This record gives sequence, C-alpha cells and structure tokens, in this order.
Amino acid sequence: MAITIKQLHPLYVGEISGVDLRHDLPQSDIDAIVAALDRYAVVVLHDQPIDDAQQIAFSARLGPLETTIKAYRPGHKLRLDAHISDVSNLDEESRLLALDDRRRMNGLGNRLWHTDSSFKPTPAKYSLLSARTIPPSGGETEFTDLRAAYDALPDSIKAQIDKRVAEHSILHSRSTIGFTDFSDEERARLPPVPQVLVRTHPGSGRKTLYLASHAGMIRGMPVPEGRLLLADLMEHATQREFVYRHHWRVGDLVIWDDRCTMHRARDFDASVPRDMHRTTVADVAPTLEQAREHELVTGA
Ligand code: OGA
Ligand code: MN
Repeated sequence: MAITIKQLHPLYVGEISGVDLRHDLPQSDIDAIVAALDRYAVVVLHDQPIDDAQQIAFSARLGPLETTIKAYRPGHKLRLDAHISDVSNLDEESRLLALDDRRRMNGLGNRLWHTDSSFKPTPAKYSLLSARTIPPSGGETEFTDLRAAYDALPDSIKAQIDKRVAEHSILHSRSTIGFTDFSDEERARLPPVPQVLVRTHPGSGRKTLYLASHAGMIRGMPVPEGRLLLADLMEHATQREFVYRHHWRVGDLVIWDDRCTMHRARDFDASVPRDMHRTTVADVAPTLEQAREHELVTGA
C-alpha cells in the first residue's frame, strides 16, 4: 500500500494513510513517515489497533526508546511495560484513580503546554501516543507549531533570545499547579537541566523555539525577568493560529516531533476512563551539544 498524506492544519499536521502498524514496515515506509514528521511535525494515523508490543516494535524503528521515569520509583508497581508511559487515569489493576491520587495529580501536569522530557538532559525526539480508551467528550490533545511561532517573532525578540539557555525542571512545572509532592530522592534525581531556547530543527533546517512549562528561568537573567520572557514566548507560541486540536478516536496513533512542537491535554470527566499509551524516542544528545555541533558544521 502506498503512503498518502493529507494536511490537517494550514501550517503543519499531516494525516498518514496506507500503513498498518501491526506489521513490520519496509524501511521505505519508515523513511516516508520520518520525512512526513520533518515536514508536518505532527502526524495522525487512524485505525491502528496496536497492542503494546506492536507499538514498541514500531516506535523502536524511529530510534532508541526512553523508559518511563515512573519505572525508577522504588517499590512502584507499573501497569504497563517500562517502555510505555502510562498516560491514563487508571491504577495497576486498571481501576479509576481516586480524584486526589498522587499519580492523577502528577498526570494533570500534562494539561500544561510542554514538550516531552525537556527536563531530562537529553530530551525526547518523538512521542507516539496511542488511544486505547477515550472519554465520550473532552480529553482532546492540542499541539502548537514552534517553528511557525519562531518565524512570526519580531526580529528584536529573535535577537534577544538567540543563544539563550533556559533551565527546565519537572518540579518547576508541577509547582505551578501546586503539585510539590516529590521525595528527596526524586528531587536529587530530577535537577534543572539546561536547554537552548532556539534550536535548528535538523530535518527541515528551520529555526524553532524550544519551550515548555518545565522552563522556569533563563541563565544570565534575573529569575523574574527570565520567567516573564518565557511567559511572553509561551503566550506568543500558543496563539490559536498555531494550534491544532486533535479529537481522538480509539485506534488513533499520533506521532509528534518534540523538538519543534508543544502539546497539552484538555480536561475531561474524571469519573470515566481515558487510557492512552505513549512510547518516546530519545533525542541524540543534549540540546546544547547539538547546538554546538551545528555551529561547528555551519559556522552559524
Ligand atoms: C503525553 C501527553 C497529552 C494527552 O502523552 O506526553 O502530554 O492528551 N499527553 O494525554
Ligand atoms: Mn506530553
């Protein structure tokens, strides 16, 4: 079957047809999907009733997979394989989490605009989210195109943010919604990490903002000033013209390029299950290293 792509948003987002992810794909299909990600940043595949093993096998064709940070919590029982992030409101017995369950509180952080794993030294390259059970209404996922957002910035702001480095911490983003229940061990394991504020997206050669609610300060700036600049950039980057809202169907797989997009979950009724399984492909190196290498190669 030949792959076809339909653009879903004026700026980005492609719907891919013509693949069945339950089966091992030829390399030419993998290359076509990567090319679509380079161009569209977010790709939607409908009617992909995959299980976890099939999701892991396909995702691993795109690069090395992250393991979920939950897997590292001593004594924590996981519902799913350590290569799957459990993006659900269910416990290890697949029962609904209580409203005040710590896991649910932590998961609510996904409602903030972010890009995955920017709080890790080497962040995510791609995320693949598979819809297994969806609520009857709500629970959409919104995306924003950070390359288009960068292009639309005034030159004065582009000059101001060039070569700037932000510090990203999951403790910071969670603290903005009042979630601070991290153990000393977690605090020690999740220190703020530096990430460049502007990247060059390798697949398209385009410049992009690199932003997330995990970013709490900009190095070399007083904290309030850096935080306000980050807030201004967030406001700019999440204007409606850049946003695509995905209304899920069971069996959808959405893949996004974490290097040049942000996303957030939308609210839904907590008394109904929403079960989404995420695999995450790790990026090749910390963003400062990538930027240094890019400078060496291009002289830019
Ligand atoms: C994620 C995420 C949003 C959602 O899986 O990384 O942020 O809508 N999910 O569940
Ligand atoms: Mn996410």
